[in-house]
Amino acid sequence: MKALGFILFLSITSIISSRSLNNAFTAAITRRPLVRTKDAKPLIDFNFEFGINARLIFPNFRLKKAYFALQEWKKLILSDPDNMISNWDGVDVCSYNGVFCEKAPDDPNLKTVAGIDLNHGNIEGQLAPHLGLLTDLSVFHINTNRFSGNIPSSFSSLAILNEFDISNNQFSGPFPSVVLNIPRLKYLDIRFNNFEGVLPPQLFDKDLDAIFLNHNRFSSTIPENIGHSKASVIVFADNAFKGCIPKSIGQMSNLDEVIFANNQLSGCVPEELGMLGNTKVLDLSNNKFVGKIPGGFGNLKGVEMIDVGHNGLIGTVMEVICTLPNLVNFTFSDNYFDGLEGKCEKPVKPGLVFDCRQNCLPDKPDQKDKNRCLPMVNRVIDCKSVGCNFLPLPKPSKPSNPCPPKAPKPPPCS
Ligand SMILES: *[C@@H]1O[C@H](CO)[C@@H](O)[C@H](O)[C@H]1NC(C)=O
Repeated sequence: MKALGFILFLSITSIISSRSLNNAFTAAITRRPLVRTKDAKPLIDFNFEFGINARLIFPNFRLKKAYFALQEWKKLILSDPDNMISNWDGVDVCSYNGVFCEKAPDDPNLKTVAGIDLNHGNIEGQLAPHLGLLTDLSVFHINTNRFSGNIPSSFSSLAILNEFDISNNQFSGPFPSVVLNIPRLKYLDIRFNNFEGVLPPQLFDKDLDAIFLNHNRFSSTIPENIGHSKASVIVFADNAFKGCIPKSIGQMSNLDEVIFANNQLSGCVPEELGMLGNTKVLDLSNNKFVGKIPGGFGNLKGVEMIDVGHNGLIGTVMEVICTLPNLVNFTFSDNYFDGLEGKCEKPVKPGLVFDCRQNCLPDKPDQKDKNRCLPMVNRVIDCKSVGCNFLPLPKPSKPSNPCPPKAPKPPPCS
């Protein structure tokens, strides 16, 4: 009797299950809305049951939600010249181009949408808040399209999203803070967009492995807590970041690669960079750094590439750097170095390259002229008093000898 009751119970639940699940879902989103905005905009109505043709049959409720989310997104796509999403019709969302299904992580009997990959799609449009319904998504890649607008705050509902790549689009506005609320995010790639303004410090307290910010219009300082980040790659390049590299960077023992190139960073190069014994790529080029290369650089035992080119650096290039065991490329061109220690004169290892052009090196070709060098090479830089300020270069001195004597051609250093 007990068993019969159980079977009866099961068959009743299976008849009503899809309906009660739907109701549960609707109730859940009424209680805890997916879209929360600080400025109290009206919540988006995800009560999508009304929006779907009742005669459509779906393998499971998650794919029904996905169908709704993708159809709503499709409405915001204005142009699809390469027909990337031209087969986004019908109930079989797993067959849609760029949509990838897997077994649900919490239920191997359910197929669910696990990935979106529309890279290089040339699609013009916006992201729909309804994408927050794809709660089993682990990968969202839409790089190299023409998406614009902002990132819907509902993306914080993507509880297992691991990779978020919206690079090479036309997104704009402030840093998309919603990414800070995507709980399991590891790979954040927002490079080549038009984001601007301030980088939030919370970015470096989040457990991310890769952070690509390059080619945007960020213009803040780099938050002091950068050293909290466990990331292996951080790329700040081609923005308008200003101020110092925070000293906390020395704590980043997972850091493989850090690129600061092409910003407005200033002050002295922090001694703490020398603590990055595992880092392979260190690029400080094209900034406004002044002073000397810190002696601590001699501890960069793992480094393969150092680029400090195009700054206002002075002093002698130290042998401890030129002889680092894994170094293959040391670029220090376009600074005001006026001396090379022993093994910096010429690379001693095959495959190792130095770029010493456009400095103030007395016996190397392709150097700056005396009038630009004179006021710089003797400049005394007190890093404490410089702080993080931008120190303009002194004016070139007047040419004293317009016809310097011809010297024999000196040897190059590479
Ligand atoms: C060394 O690095 C510089 C700048 O980072 C790059 O332009 C150059 O091509 C590299 N040289 C070699 C030989 O890899």
